[in-house]
Amino acid sequence: MNIQLSKSPIGLDGIPAAETVLSHVDGERGELIIAGEHVGDLVRKTGFEGVTARLWSGGTGQPVSEATVRAALGAARQRAFARLPDLLGITRGLSIVDGFRAAVAGLRAENGLPHEATIVGAFPVIAGALVQRAKGCDPVAPDPDASHAADTLSMMLNRKPDACEAAALDAYFVTVCDHGMNASTFTTRVVASTQADLFAAVTAGYCALTGPLHGGAPEPVLEMLDAIGSSERIKPWVDDALARGERLMGFGHRIYRVRDPRADVLKGAIERLAGSGADLPFAGEVEAYIRTALRQKNPDRPLDTNVEFFTAILLDALSIPRQAFTPVFAVARAAGWTAHAREQQRVGRLIRPSSAYIGPMPD
Ligand code: ACO
Repeated sequence: MNIQLSKSPIGLDGIPAAETVLSHVDGERGELIIAGEHVGDLVRKTGFEGVTARLWSGGTGQPVSEATVRAALGAARQRAFARLPDLLGITRGLSIVDGFRAAVAGLRAENGLPHEATIVGAFPVIAGALVQRAKGCDPVAPDPDASHAADTLSMMLNRKPDACEAAALDAYFVTVCDHGMNASTFTTRVVASTQADLFAAVTAGYCALTGPLHGGAPEPVLEMLDAIGSSERIKPWVDDALARGERLMGFGHRIYRVRDPRADVLKGAIERLAGSGADLPFAGEVEAYIRTALRQKNPDRPLDTNVEFFTAILLDALSIPRQAFTPVFAVARAAGWTAHAREQQRVGRLIRPSSAYIGPMPD
Protein backbone atom coordinates (compact mmCIF):
# COMPACT_ATOMS: atom_id res chain seq x y z
CA MET A 1 0.00 0.00 0.00
CA ASN A 2 1.57 3.31 -1.06
CA ILE A 3 -0.80 6.08 -0.10
CA GLN A 4 0.42 9.61 -0.93
CA LEU A 5 0.67 11.87 2.15
CA SER A 6 -0.01 15.57 1.57
CA LYS A 7 1.86 18.45 3.23
CA SER A 8 -1.00 20.91 3.48
CA PRO A 9 -3.10 21.48 5.55
CA ILE A 10 -1.17 18.98 7.66
CA GLY A 11 1.43 21.65 8.48
CA LEU A 12 -1.34 23.49 10.37
CA ASP A 13 -0.63 26.64 8.31
CA GLY A 14 -2.64 29.61 9.52
CA ILE A 15 -4.50 27.72 12.24
CA PRO A 16 -4.34 29.50 15.63
CA ALA A 17 -3.41 26.97 18.31
CA ALA A 18 -3.61 29.35 21.26
CA GLU A 19 -4.35 32.87 22.38
CA THR A 20 -1.27 34.56 23.75
CA VAL A 21 -0.17 37.88 25.21
CA LEU A 22 3.49 37.03 24.60
CA SER A 23 4.36 37.71 20.96
CA HIS A 24 2.86 38.28 17.52
CA VAL A 25 4.29 37.66 14.05
CA ASP A 26 2.82 39.57 11.10
CA GLY A 27 4.16 37.70 8.10
CA GLU A 28 2.79 40.04 5.44
CA ARG A 29 4.19 43.23 6.98
CA GLY A 30 7.35 41.62 8.32
CA GLU A 31 6.67 42.65 11.91
CA LEU A 32 7.44 40.92 15.19
CA ILE A 33 5.90 42.23 18.41
CA ILE A 34 7.20 40.80 21.69
CA ALA A 35 5.35 41.72 24.90
CA GLY A 36 3.83 44.78 23.25
CA GLU A 37 6.96 46.18 21.53
CA HIS A 38 8.38 45.92 18.02
CA VAL A 39 11.47 43.74 18.22
CA GLY A 40 13.83 46.55 17.10
CA ASP A 41 12.47 48.92 19.78
CA LEU A 42 12.70 46.20 22.40
CA VAL A 43 16.39 45.64 21.68
CA ARG A 44 17.02 49.38 22.07
CA LYS A 45 14.99 49.60 25.31
CA THR A 46 15.88 46.53 27.32
CA GLY A 47 18.13 43.54 27.74
CA PHE A 48 17.46 39.85 28.23
CA GLU A 49 16.52 40.15 31.90
CA GLY A 50 14.04 42.93 31.06
CA VAL A 51 12.31 41.06 28.28
CA THR A 52 12.26 37.88 30.35
CA ALA A 53 10.49 39.79 33.14
CA ARG A 54 7.89 40.93 30.61
CA LEU A 55 7.43 37.41 29.23
CA TRP A 56 7.14 35.78 32.64
CA SER A 57 4.69 38.47 33.77
CA GLY A 58 2.58 37.74 30.70
CA GLY A 59 2.83 33.98 31.06
CA THR A 60 2.01 33.80 34.75
CA GLY A 61 -0.41 36.73 34.84
CA GLN A 62 1.56 38.05 37.86
CA PRO A 63 4.00 40.98 37.77
CA VAL A 64 7.65 39.88 37.71
CA SER A 65 10.32 42.58 38.00
CA GLU A 66 13.57 42.77 36.08
CA ALA A 67 15.48 42.81 39.38
CA THR A 68 13.77 39.57 40.44
CA VAL A 69 14.70 37.94 37.15
CA ARG A 70 18.32 39.12 37.41
CA ALA A 71 18.71 37.74 40.95
CA ALA A 72 16.91 34.48 40.16
CA LEU A 73 18.95 33.80 37.02
CA GLY A 74 22.22 34.52 38.84
CA ALA A 75 21.26 32.08 41.62
CA ALA A 76 20.05 29.50 39.11
CA ARG A 77 23.32 29.62 37.18
CA GLN A 78 25.18 28.86 40.40
CA ARG A 79 22.84 25.98 41.32
CA ALA A 80 23.24 24.49 37.85
CA PHE A 81 27.02 24.75 38.10
CA ALA A 82 26.92 22.77 41.36
CA ARG A 83 24.85 20.09 39.60
CA LEU A 84 27.07 19.86 36.51
CA PRO A 85 28.76 16.55 37.42
CA ASP A 86 25.31 14.88 37.50
CA LEU A 87 23.94 16.73 34.48
CA LEU A 88 26.96 15.99 32.28
CA GLY A 89 27.21 12.38 33.44
CA ILE A 90 24.85 11.11 30.78
CA THR A 91 26.25 13.25 27.97
CA ARG A 92 29.56 11.48 27.40
CA GLY A 93 30.26 10.75 23.76
CA LEU A 94 27.42 13.01 22.59
CA SER A 95 27.78 16.09 20.39
CA ILE A 96 27.17 19.50 21.98
CA VAL A 97 23.63 19.64 20.52
CA ASP A 98 22.74 16.13 21.72
CA GLY A 99 24.57 16.44 25.03
CA PHE A 100 22.59 19.59 25.73
CA ARG A 101 19.35 17.66 25.15
CA ALA A 102 20.39 14.92 27.57
CA ALA A 103 21.56 17.36 30.26
CA VAL A 104 18.42 19.50 30.01
CA ALA A 105 16.34 16.35 30.46
CA GLY A 106 18.17 15.85 33.78
CA LEU A 107 17.18 19.22 35.25
CA ARG A 108 14.91 19.23 38.27
CA ALA A 109 13.29 21.62 40.73
CA GLU A 110 15.55 23.66 42.99
CA ASN A 111 14.39 24.78 46.46
CA GLY A 112 13.36 28.41 46.56
CA LEU A 113 13.66 29.01 42.80
CA PRO A 114 10.77 29.16 40.33
CA HIS A 115 11.05 26.40 37.73
CA GLU A 116 11.38 28.94 34.94
CA ALA A 117 14.44 30.51 36.57
CA THR A 118 15.99 27.09 37.25
CA ILE A 119 15.63 26.21 33.57
CA VAL A 120 16.68 29.50 31.97
CA GLY A 121 19.57 29.87 34.42
CA ALA A 122 20.84 26.35 33.79
CA PHE A 123 20.90 26.59 29.99
CA PRO A 124 24.06 28.69 29.51
CA VAL A 125 25.86 26.76 32.27
CA ILE A 126 25.20 23.47 30.47
CA ALA A 127 26.03 24.90 27.04
CA GLY A 128 29.23 26.51 28.32
CA ALA A 129 30.36 23.32 30.06
CA LEU A 130 29.77 21.25 26.91
CA VAL A 131 31.78 23.75 24.86
CA GLN A 132 34.64 23.66 27.37
CA ARG A 133 34.56 19.86 27.51
CA ALA A 134 34.80 19.69 23.71
CA LYS A 135 38.03 21.71 24.04
CA GLY A 136 39.26 19.38 26.80
CA CYS A 137 38.81 22.09 29.47
CA ASP A 138 37.01 22.29 32.81
CA PRO A 139 33.73 24.21 33.05
CA VAL A 140 33.98 27.91 33.85
CA ALA A 141 32.13 28.99 37.02
CA PRO A 142 29.27 31.47 36.52
CA ASP A 143 29.25 34.97 38.00
CA PRO A 144 25.82 35.61 39.56
CA ASP A 145 26.31 39.38 39.31
CA ALA A 146 27.03 39.40 35.58
CA SER A 147 24.26 39.80 33.02
CA HIS A 148 22.94 36.55 31.58
CA ALA A 149 24.48 37.39 28.18
CA ALA A 150 27.88 38.39 29.57
CA ASP A 151 28.01 35.30 31.78
CA THR A 152 27.01 33.06 28.88
CA LEU A 153 29.97 34.39 26.92
CA SER A 154 32.37 34.00 29.88
CA MET A 155 31.38 30.36 30.28
CA MET A 156 31.67 29.75 26.51
CA LEU A 157 34.94 31.59 25.90
CA ASN A 158 36.70 31.18 29.25
CA ARG A 159 37.37 34.92 29.40
CA LYS A 160 35.41 38.01 30.37
CA PRO A 161 33.75 39.48 27.27
CA ASP A 162 34.12 43.18 26.57
CA ALA A 163 31.05 45.43 26.77
CA CYS A 164 30.48 45.35 22.97
CA GLU A 165 30.53 41.56 22.87
CA ALA A 166 28.14 41.28 25.82
CA ALA A 167 25.82 43.86 24.23
CA ALA A 168 25.82 41.96 20.92
CA LEU A 169 24.83 38.66 22.54
CA ASP A 170 22.26 40.45 24.68
CA ALA A 171 20.73 41.96 21.51
CA TYR A 172 20.61 38.47 19.99
CA PHE A 173 18.94 37.03 23.11
CA VAL A 174 16.23 39.72 23.07
CA THR A 175 15.71 39.31 19.33
CA VAL A 176 15.08 35.56 19.44
CA CYS A 177 13.55 35.12 22.94
CA ASP A 178 10.05 34.51 21.56
CA HIS A 179 8.39 34.21 18.17
CA GLY A 180 4.72 33.34 18.12
CA MET A 181 3.65 29.74 17.63
CA ASN A 182 6.91 28.43 16.14
CA ALA A 183 7.44 24.66 16.13
CA SER A 184 9.38 24.46 19.42
CA THR A 185 6.97 26.77 21.25
CA PHE A 186 4.01 24.78 19.95
CA THR A 187 5.70 21.59 21.13
CA THR A 188 6.32 23.13 24.55
CA ARG A 189 2.69 24.19 24.80
CA VAL A 190 1.40 20.76 23.76
CA VAL A 191 3.38 19.14 26.57
CA ALA A 192 2.38 21.85 29.07
CA SER A 193 -1.26 21.38 28.06
CA THR A 194 -1.12 17.86 29.50
CA GLN A 195 -0.22 19.53 32.85
CA ALA A 196 3.26 18.00 32.66
CA ASP A 197 5.75 20.30 34.41
CA LEU A 198 7.95 22.98 32.86
CA PHE A 199 11.01 20.70 32.79
CA ALA A 200 9.21 18.19 30.56
CA ALA A 201 7.68 20.90 28.38
CA VAL A 202 10.96 22.74 27.75
CA THR A 203 12.93 19.54 27.11
CA ALA A 204 10.44 18.71 24.37
CA GLY A 205 10.67 22.26 23.02
CA TYR A 206 14.45 21.97 22.72
CA CYS A 207 14.12 18.70 20.81
CA ALA A 208 11.88 20.43 18.27
CA LEU A 209 14.37 23.29 17.97
CA THR A 210 17.26 21.07 16.89
CA GLY A 211 16.02 20.28 13.37
CA PRO A 212 17.48 22.22 10.44
CA LEU A 213 14.05 23.49 9.37
CA HIS A 214 13.90 25.36 12.70
CA GLY A 215 16.80 26.21 15.05
CA GLY A 216 19.37 23.87 13.55
CA ALA A 217 19.92 26.09 10.51
CA PRO A 218 22.73 28.47 11.56
CA GLU A 219 25.54 25.91 11.57
CA PRO A 220 24.68 24.92 7.98
CA VAL A 221 24.54 28.64 7.08
CA LEU A 222 28.22 28.98 8.05
CA GLU A 223 29.05 25.78 6.20
CA MET A 224 27.38 27.28 3.12
CA LEU A 225 29.32 30.55 3.42
CA ASP A 226 32.55 28.56 3.85
CA ALA A 227 31.75 26.35 0.87
CA ILE A 228 31.00 29.36 -1.35
CA GLY A 229 34.21 31.00 -0.18
CA SER A 230 34.54 33.91 -2.63
CA SER A 231 32.41 36.36 -4.61
CA GLU A 232 33.00 34.65 -7.99
CA ARG A 233 31.71 31.34 -6.63
CA ILE A 234 28.39 32.69 -5.31
CA LYS A 235 26.39 32.32 -8.51
CA PRO A 236 27.63 28.85 -9.58
CA TRP A 237 27.41 27.46 -6.04
CA VAL A 238 23.88 28.74 -5.39
CA ASP A 239 22.61 27.81 -8.86
CA ASP A 240 23.99 24.27 -8.50
CA ALA A 241 22.49 23.82 -5.03
CA LEU A 242 19.07 24.98 -6.22
CA ALA A 243 19.31 22.79 -9.34
CA ARG A 244 19.92 19.82 -7.03
CA GLY A 245 16.70 20.78 -5.18
CA GLU A 246 18.51 21.73 -1.97
CA ARG A 247 17.07 24.17 0.55
CA LEU A 248 19.34 27.10 1.29
CA MET A 249 19.66 27.51 5.04
CA GLY A 250 18.77 30.92 6.47
CA PHE A 251 16.12 31.58 3.82
CA GLY A 252 12.37 31.01 3.68
CA HIS A 253 9.82 31.03 6.46
CA ARG A 254 6.41 29.56 7.07
CA ILE A 255 4.91 32.89 8.17
CA TYR A 256 7.03 35.72 6.72
CA ARG A 257 6.31 36.68 3.12
CA VAL A 258 8.94 39.43 3.34
CA ARG A 259 12.34 39.70 5.00
CA ASP A 260 12.34 38.50 8.62
CA PRO A 261 12.50 41.70 10.73
CA ARG A 262 15.00 40.02 13.05
CA ALA A 263 17.54 39.83 10.22
CA ASP A 264 18.14 43.59 10.25
CA VAL A 265 18.20 43.80 14.04
CA LEU A 266 20.96 41.20 14.11
CA LYS A 267 22.78 42.81 11.19
CA GLY A 268 22.83 46.05 13.24
CA ALA A 269 24.24 44.16 16.22
CA ILE A 270 27.04 42.76 14.04
CA GLU A 271 27.82 46.23 12.68
CA ARG A 272 28.17 47.55 16.24
CA LEU A 273 30.56 44.72 17.10
CA ALA A 274 33.70 46.60 16.12
CA GLY A 275 36.72 44.56 15.03
CA SER A 276 34.83 41.27 15.06
CA GLY A 277 36.27 40.11 11.77
CA ALA A 278 32.79 39.29 10.42
CA ASP A 279 32.82 39.58 6.62
CA LEU A 280 29.50 41.39 6.29
CA PRO A 281 30.13 42.63 2.71
CA PHE A 282 30.62 39.04 1.48
CA ALA A 283 27.61 37.82 3.48
CA GLY A 284 25.61 40.68 1.96
CA GLU A 285 26.61 39.61 -1.56
CA VAL A 286 25.59 36.01 -0.84
CA GLU A 287 22.31 37.15 0.68
CA ALA A 288 21.48 39.42 -2.26
CA TYR A 289 22.17 36.70 -4.84
CA ILE A 290 20.20 34.05 -2.96
CA ARG A 291 17.20 36.37 -2.58
CA THR A 292 17.20 36.97 -6.33
CA ALA A 293 17.71 33.30 -7.17
CA LEU A 294 14.87 32.19 -4.86
CA ARG A 295 12.57 34.82 -6.37
CA GLN A 296 13.29 33.40 -9.82
CA LYS A 297 12.92 29.79 -8.70
CA ASN A 298 9.66 30.26 -6.77
CA PRO A 299 8.00 33.42 -8.18
CA ASP A 300 4.70 32.55 -6.46
CA ARG A 301 6.16 31.79 -3.02
CA PRO A 302 8.13 34.71 -1.55
CA LEU A 303 11.25 33.31 0.13
CA ASP A 304 13.46 35.81 1.89
CA THR A 305 16.21 36.00 4.50
CA ASN A 306 15.27 34.59 7.90
CA VAL A 307 16.81 35.14 11.33
CA GLU A 308 19.24 32.25 11.03
CA PHE A 309 21.38 33.83 8.31
CA PHE A 310 22.59 36.68 10.51
CA THR A 311 22.46 34.55 13.66
CA ALA A 312 25.22 32.42 12.18
CA ILE A 313 27.38 35.44 11.36
CA LEU A 314 26.82 37.09 14.74
CA LEU A 315 27.51 34.00 16.85
CA ASP A 316 30.57 33.20 14.75
CA ALA A 317 31.85 36.78 15.21
CA LEU A 318 31.50 36.25 18.96
CA SER A 319 33.77 33.16 18.65
CA ILE A 320 31.01 30.80 19.78
CA PRO A 321 31.74 27.42 18.18
CA ARG A 322 29.23 26.59 15.47
CA GLN A 323 28.42 23.24 17.09
CA ALA A 324 26.94 25.22 20.00
CA PHE A 325 24.72 27.57 17.96
CA THR A 326 21.49 25.65 18.60
CA PRO A 327 22.02 25.44 22.40
CA VAL A 328 22.81 29.18 22.43
CA PHE A 329 19.57 29.82 20.54
CA ALA A 330 17.85 27.74 23.24
CA VAL A 331 19.37 29.88 26.02
CA ALA A 332 17.36 32.81 24.68
CA ARG A 333 14.24 30.94 23.53
CA ALA A 334 13.92 29.26 26.95
CA ALA A 335 12.54 32.58 28.22
CA GLY A 336 9.70 32.31 25.69
CA TRP A 337 9.15 28.57 26.18
CA THR A 338 8.79 28.88 29.96
CA ALA A 339 6.38 31.82 29.59
CA HIS A 340 4.30 29.92 27.02
CA ALA A 341 4.25 26.81 29.21
CA ARG A 342 2.91 28.87 32.13
CA GLU A 343 0.35 30.57 29.88
CA GLN A 344 -0.80 27.22 28.51
CA GLN A 345 -1.10 25.71 31.99
CA ARG A 346 -3.33 28.65 32.94
CA VAL A 347 -5.55 27.94 29.92
CA GLY A 348 -5.99 24.49 31.40
CA ARG A 349 -7.17 22.74 28.26
CA LEU A 350 -5.47 19.79 26.53
CA ILE A 351 -4.21 20.53 22.99
CA ARG A 352 -5.48 17.61 21.01
CA PRO A 353 -5.95 18.12 17.26
CA SER A 354 -7.61 15.58 15.01
CA SER A 355 -6.08 13.72 12.10
CA ALA A 356 -7.40 13.05 8.62
CA TYR A 357 -7.49 9.27 8.29
CA ILE A 358 -6.68 8.15 4.76
CA GLY A 359 -5.88 4.51 5.49
CA PRO A 360 -8.00 1.50 4.64
CA MET A 361 -11.33 0.93 6.38
CA PRO A 362 -12.32 -2.50 7.73
CA ASP A 363 -14.53 -4.55 5.40
N1 ACO B 1 15.72 27.20 -0.16
C1 ACO B 1 15.23 26.73 -1.31
N2 ACO B 1 13.93 26.47 -1.52
C2 ACO B 1 13.10 26.68 -0.49
C3 ACO B 1 13.54 27.18 0.75
C4 ACO B 1 14.92 27.44 0.88
N3 ACO B 1 15.43 27.87 2.01
N4 ACO B 1 12.49 27.29 1.58
C5 ACO B 1 11.42 26.89 0.90
N5 ACO B 1 11.78 26.52 -0.34
C6 ACO B 1 10.93 26.03 -1.40
C7 ACO B 1 10.42 24.65 -1.08
O1 ACO B 1 11.32 23.66 -1.54
C8 ACO B 1 9.13 24.63 -1.81
O2 ACO B 1 9.41 24.42 -3.20
P1 ACO B 1 8.47 23.48 -4.09
O3 ACO B 1 7.09 24.07 -3.98
O4 ACO B 1 9.07 23.59 -5.44
O5 ACO B 1 8.55 22.13 -3.44
C9 ACO B 1 8.62 26.07 -1.72
O6 ACO B 1 9.78 26.86 -1.44
C10 ACO B 1 7.60 26.31 -0.67
O7 ACO B 1 8.13 25.99 0.56
P2 ACO B 1 7.19 25.60 1.75
O8 ACO B 1 7.15 24.12 1.82
O9 ACO B 1 5.87 26.26 1.68
O10 ACO B 1 7.99 26.18 2.95
P3 ACO B 1 7.65 25.88 4.44
O11 ACO B 1 6.76 26.94 4.96
O12 ACO B 1 7.20 24.48 4.66
O13 ACO B 1 9.11 25.98 5.05
C11 ACO B 1 11.05 26.59 6.10
C12 ACO B 1 9.61 26.99 5.85
C13 ACO B 1 11.07 25.21 6.76
C14 ACO B 1 11.70 27.58 7.06
C15 ACO B 1 11.81 26.55 4.77
O14 ACO B 1 11.76 27.81 4.15
C16 ACO B 1 13.22 26.05 4.88
O15 ACO B 1 13.44 24.85 4.86
N6 ACO B 1 14.22 26.98 5.01
C17 ACO B 1 15.60 26.58 5.18
C18 ACO B 1 15.88 26.19 6.64
C19 ACO B 1 15.91 27.39 7.56
O16 ACO B 1 16.42 28.45 7.22
N7 ACO B 1 15.34 27.19 8.76
C20 ACO B 1 15.28 28.23 9.78
C21 ACO B 1 13.92 28.84 9.81
S1 ACO B 1 13.82 30.20 10.95
C22 ACO B 1 13.58 29.46 12.46
O17 ACO B 1 12.95 28.46 12.58
C23 ACO B 1 14.19 30.05 13.64
